[in-house]
Amino acid sequence: MKKFGLFAATLFAFLFSASVLVASDKTPVKGELTMPENIKAIVDKSCFGCHNTDSQNEDAKEELDFKTFDTLSKVKKVGALRHIAEVVEEGEMPPKRFLERFPDRKLTEEEAKVLTEWVKKEAEALIAQ
Ligand code: HEC
Repeated sequence: MKKFGLFAATLFAFLFSASVLVASDKTPVKGELTMPENIKAIVDKSCFGCHNTDSQNEDAKEELDFKTFDTLSKVKKVGALRHIAEVVEEGEMPPKRFLERFPDRKLTEEEAKVLTEWVKKEAEALIAQ
């Protein structure tokens, strides 16, 4: 019995550390908008800091929260994706005042194009579902 307990404890420890390893891998977090690596890199650079659940920026996270995106209804997801395309195309995001302080967070033309095309495609794919 003692042996079994030890075995169970070892097994448990193994599974636990394995799950921690998996969780720290690049598997998408539940609730978060799933994005291909190149899109995620753009969002992480220029958007995620304000638009996530833990952001101090209440207005920003109320408008858009990448961390809880996947919990939205289909209609809201489509709306949010279209809004993203809109603000990026219009050059409204990231906000100008923010860019004055952090000019390196500005989207390059190429990044803006790649991001807009992706969100538009995602919106269409959702509608087609
Ligand atoms: C410095 C913080 C900050 C960053 C960085 C930022 N935003 Fe925002 N965002 C805000 C705030 C604050 C609002 C709400 C007030 C407003 O609309 O200006 C907002 C609003 C929005 C809205 C809703 C606008 C509407 O009219 O419905 C969208 C969509 C959006 N942001 C997308 C983005 C995207 C995409 C990026 C990255 C390219 C980004 N934001 C980067 C702060 C930020």
